[in-house]
Formats: sequence, C-alpha cells, structure tokens
Amino acid sequence: MNDTHKLVIIVGSVREGRFGPVVASWVADRAREHGGFDIDIVDLADADIPLALPEVSPVLAGDSYPRPEAMASLTSHLEEADAFVVVTPEYNHSYPASLKAAIDWHFSQWKAKPVAFVSYGGAAGGRHAVLHLENVFTELHAVTIRDGLAFPYYYRSWEDGRPQDQEAPGYAKAMLDQLAWWAAALRAARESIPYPA
Ligand SMILES: Cc1cc2nc3c(=O)[nH]c(=O)nc-3n(C[C@H](O)[C@H](O)[C@H](O)COP(=O)(O)O)c2cc1C
Repeated sequence: MNDTHKLVIIVGSVREGRFGPVVASWVADRAREHGGFDIDIVDLADADIPLALPEVSPVLAGDSYPRPEAMASLTSHLEEADAFVVVTPEYNHSYPASLKAAIDWHFSQWKAKPVAFVSYGGAAGGRHAVLHLENVFTELHAVTIRDGLAFPYYYRSWEDGRPQDQEAPGYAKAMLDQLAWWAAALRAARESIPYPA
C-alpha cells in the first residue's frame, strides 16, 4: 500500500486581501517536512461556488450532482483526498460563507476521511469557527482531528509568512502525525469495508 496520503489544504477565505493563503502556505511547508503526504493547496477563490444549490440533494444525486463547470477541479481534489486541513479565519464567531458553500456542494467527498483545522483571528484565534466546523463535518461522516493550531491576533504574531511562536512547528507536527494516522486507518477501512451510510 502507498504510505503517503493525498492531503488537501483548503484556503477557506476568499476575501480581497485575505491572510488565508499565508497560513496555508506555512501549513504546506510543515506537511512537506513531515513527509507523509502528497500535498495540494486548494484555494476556494479559484472555484465557482454559487450560494444557490441545485434542487436535488448531493446525497441522493451522487455522481450526477449538477455542479458548475468551474467547480470541477475543486470537486476532483476533494474526491481524491485522503485527508484535509481546513485553514479558516473567524467571521462573526463562525467560519466564512465561502467555506460553508464549498462544504455543502459536496457530500461523499468528505465521507470517512479525516479533517484537521488551522484557524486564525482575534482573541479566540478562530476557535469559534473550528467548533462550528467540527459539528458540520460530523454530519458529513468525516472524522475531525483533536489537535489543531489556532493563531490569536495573527496580525501581531506572524512575521515573514510564519508564526513567531517557536512551539508552532511542534504543534503542527502533532496535528499532522494524527492526521496521517487517521488517513491510513480510514483509507484501509474504506478500501476493505463499505462505509455503512
Ligand atoms: C465579516 C468579518 C467578521 C469578522 N469577525 C471576527 C470574529 O468574530 N472574531 C475574530 O476573531 N475575528 C473576526 N474578524 C477578523 C478576521 O479574523 C480577520 O479579518 C482575518 O484576517 C480574516 O481572515 P482572511 O484575511 O483570511 O479573510 C472578522 C472579519 C470579517 C471580514
């Protein structure tokens, strides 16, 4: 069995002047150092993600869910992923609408796969956003990873594309170790036993 896992790092914010790509790029460097992953950064700003969903539900439609053409690359990256890191800011004590829209346009792509979170924001470091995302991904039969990173007051604590906190790479490694473990366990399970939903 191939022992590297396809990791998709999702940039959750699409705002002009956003900070998300800086965080995603740092996370990708940590994942490269880790060595257990093939890494793709998927930027939601590159996809067409309308707020209006089709009439039919993605659960019932399966592969024939009518997605916009400019969402195809996003969908195939999610489809092929063994693991996800969601990079999210906090907007009004939750996560951005862009992220919710991208999540809701998909279903089977998340199922029985592990999801870790890296957040940033003001005082709470994006933790409100992550708590909400954990609920959402449970509904999608994904497995959320306990360890993650939260960067409070990122505008003061990051410099030259990296956090000033010397402990941050160690926290990233712990998160990625857990993510790799779950990625291996869940891929083996998906390949050997049909998921019961
Ligand atoms: C609409 C909006 C709501 C926000 N609400 C919060 C919030 O509730 N808590 C917080 O810590 N930061 C909040 N912020 C600040 C963001 O965390 C900060 O602007 C961050 O840079 C946003 O991520 P982005 O640059 O990737 O878009 C908010 C920002 C926006 C644009």
